[in-house]
Amino acid sequence: MSTSAQIGVTGLAVMGRNLARNFARNGYTVALHNRTVSKTHELVENFGDEGDFIAAETAKEFVEALERPRRLVIMVKAGGPTDAVIEEFAPLLEPGDMIIDGGNAHFADTRRREKALREQGIHFVGMGVSGGEEGALHGPSIMPGGPRESYDSLGPMLEKISAKAASDGAPCVTHVGPDGAGHFVKMVHNGIEYADMQLIGEAYQLLRDVAGYSPAQIADIFRTWNTGRLDSYLIEITAEVLAHVDAATGKPFVDVVVDQAEQKGTGRWTVQIALDLGVPVSGIAEAVFARSLSGHADLRAASRGLAGPKPTALSDAEAAAFADRVEQALYASKIVSYTQGFHEIQAGSDEYGWDIDLGAVSSIWRGGCIIRAAFLDRIRAAYDARADLPSLLSDETFAREIAEAQDDWREVIIAATRDGVAVPGFSAALAYYDALRAERLPAALTQGQRDFFGAHTYRRVDREGAFHTLWGGDRSEVTE
Ligand code: 6PG
Repeated sequence: MSTSAQIGVTGLAVMGRNLARNFARNGYTVALHNRTVSKTHELVENFGDEGDFIAAETAKEFVEALERPRRLVIMVKAGGPTDAVIEEFAPLLEPGDMIIDGGNAHFADTRRREKALREQGIHFVGMGVSGGEEGALHGPSIMPGGPRESYDSLGPMLEKISAKAASDGAPCVTHVGPDGAGHFVKMVHNGIEYADMQLIGEAYQLLRDVAGYSPAQIADIFRTWNTGRLDSYLIEITAEVLAHVDAATGKPFVDVVVDQAEQKGTGRWTVQIALDLGVPVSGIAEAVFARSLSGHADLRAASRGLAGPKPTALSDAEAAAFADRVEQALYASKIVSYTQGFHEIQAGSDEYGWDIDLGAVSSIWRGGCIIRAAFLDRIRAAYDARADLPSLLSDETFAREIAEAQDDWREVIIAATRDGVAVPGFSAALAYYDALRAERLPAALTQGQRDFFGAHTYRRVDREGAFHTLWGGDRSEVTE
């Protein structure tokens, strides 16, 4: 067995296979390993002409095929399978070697694994990879964490295989930060992906139920939107999905698919972690809840007969004007989703001392990943203009765009409410915006109630300190 492979990939299901092919197509010799050996040989048989592969049948052969420091990419299921592969390979490695986990691991697992392997001198890189099968093959967005020094040798290879941003050709990869930073950022990417998809879903439902358009007409509307500021991969594929007609029935494809959305868990993690960090990611949370609500088939069946409003019919001109308003609402809500997602990344970075550069994150999401969009160029510009931006909403351009969109945004939510179309994503985004800009919040009343029933104390607007009112007595105020 030659020891000439610059990188090895173990776990050759579709993502691993395509990532291995991407490395090979970019001139790297790639060692291959899979638990079921036939998959390894199949890859070489089918794609061997794309580059140089070394097929290894055993873990030992695989490790021996790698030049030092060894770079070993694992592309297996997150959780137990990842631990099993690490346990298999770690004893065969030497200090300075690298294990790179390209799965959708929970960042806390990545932190644990990085710490354990560091004790053996092995560099563990938790690496977020986005872009699905196509991205893995043609250029994904890559979010590696782990030790900084691992990026010196790994980074140039990742830069070669990554997507390049359309506007300036920059590789969509950066060293995100130490230990679990890469997987954390990938998790939030997916949370934003959920929110984007939910907002698009709400826009579709409004265009269908309020404006009365057919899926094919809505596909055209999305195509038009995709030529403007909403230009993005998700809007593009939405048009494709809506235009598709089911061959078996001749019906719109979207009408023959069971309306129960599934999830693998990264959106849910984003919300769970946000709760721990105290970050309001209401748009992402509504997206996760909307998926779970859709899956409660029995509950939905039992509720279908509940009263709703009488639908309002719109004229053609009114429907067209409404569609324009929905575009405004979608755009404004999208700004809020990203604001919330970036807030979570900042909070995670502060909590774990990762020193994540938010501008760099927006930059590497400009190509390859599922949420890639022209919009990310504008986020990048916002952080370029001010690296310590407190929130995307503080950026002048975004603030102005929301100011221009807000009347339509509110009108759309009014119309949805009037016609009984659920728009939790649009509504949560607007509520976040209105709450943030409010002079006073009812949180003062909440504090009063807490003090009333639990003597939890409150702070005053005019004096320092903690205070308690003797609610059960003469209602005088005492200092705690
Ligand atoms: C990506 C995707 C990818 C995957 C998600 C889908 O960035 O390439 O996010 O990670 O498609 O796991 O997640 P759900 O199954 O939870 O929708």
